[in-house]
Amino acid sequence: MATTRFMTLPRHIIEGEKLHPEATGELSGILLQLGLAAKLISLEVNKAGLANILGFTGDENVHGEKVKKLDMFAHEMLIKAMDHGGHFCVMASEEEEDIIHLPPHQKIGKYVLLFDPLDGSSNIDANISIGTIFSIYKRVSEGDGPGTLEDCLQQGYKQEVAGYILYGSSTIFVYTAGHGHGVYGFTLDPAFGEFLLSHDDIKIPKQGRIYSLNEGNYFSWPKGLKDYIKYLQANYFEGKPYQARYVGSMVADVHRTLLYGGIFIYPGDRRNAKGKLRLSYECNPMSFIVEAAGGRATDGKERILDKKPEALHERTPIYIGSEKDVLLVEKFLSEAREAY
Ligand code: AHG
Ligand code: MN
Ligand code: MN
Repeated sequence: MATTRFMTLPRHIIEGEKLHPEATGELSGILLQLGLAAKLISLEVNKAGLANILGFTGDENVHGEKVKKLDMFAHEMLIKAMDHGGHFCVMASEEEEDIIHLPPHQKIGKYVLLFDPLDGSSNIDANISIGTIFSIYKRVSEGDGPGTLEDCLQQGYKQEVAGYILYGSSTIFVYTAGHGHGVYGFTLDPAFGEFLLSHDDIKIPKQGRIYSLNEGNYFSWPKGLKDYIKYLQANYFEGKPYQARYVGSMVADVHRTLLYGGIFIYPGDRRNAKGKLRLSYECNPMSFIVEAAGGRATDGKERILDKKPEALHERTPIYIGSEKDVLLVEKFLSEAREAY
């Protein structure tokens, strides 16, 4: 998967467009804009820690600009980067209750953009990896006027493109156009501000030896999940037990799962039957990527990408990662028949 060929994100997108004649230049234009937004957010994320050191306390910084929470900065940056160019008819963000219409003077496009501008925000102050997640659909509503809520509530298997940017020890941009198109990772070279292909055609291992979930919620878990985790801890696989890893940023935990294999879980539990993670702009894009890399993603029973969203911010339990690992936890869950 690691690659040495010198391939920039723009070149890869343009070449990808040639490989898939049905892809219009529009998706390339969208991805290039997202790459620009990613660089700007990465810059801000990397200096966020300085805000406190350099006295950017309170509401004003030295430029007399309001020092925004990073989530809001990322949210506004993405809208500013994506609301022109005539690609979209509507957008939706974790940071906005309702759907987001394009400015009145902007040309209306045929695509829909959903995003989590900053995922893992509780980790910002501890300098732990955070990310941005995006999901792109074609509009389904009639006409060529402003898009509607219906355009934003499509099943995940209809996505055209999904991806994320992980702001970690380095900044990596991962995207896929779905099954058969491969999953590609590009690492930002800060020396000349370009994303270079670093992970060519990512395939998730069929099984891993890492499980990832918040064990602080153990006593609220369904019985089947408790049995599954105990089984992993009590048995050896290829001579070794499973390891626990949990960053608390979905983008970081899923990215590690994509590369190393294993399973990431945010379950429904006794207190929150639907769990915490949002279907439309966290679970659907991440499931689209993991499935395109040969993995599996369900809510414990149903394929995430088949679920019909009923509300913009609706939550869903998620079990996502290596096929063998997800199939095994589903078996434990079905045998316990949803007992707690
Ligand atoms: P966000 O910062 O966009 O609200 O997402 C946070 C999510 C997700 O990134 C992570 O997997 C999960 O919250 C962690 O939740 P717990 O702290 O409850 O484990
Ligand atoms: Mn999130
Ligand atoms: Mn968020």
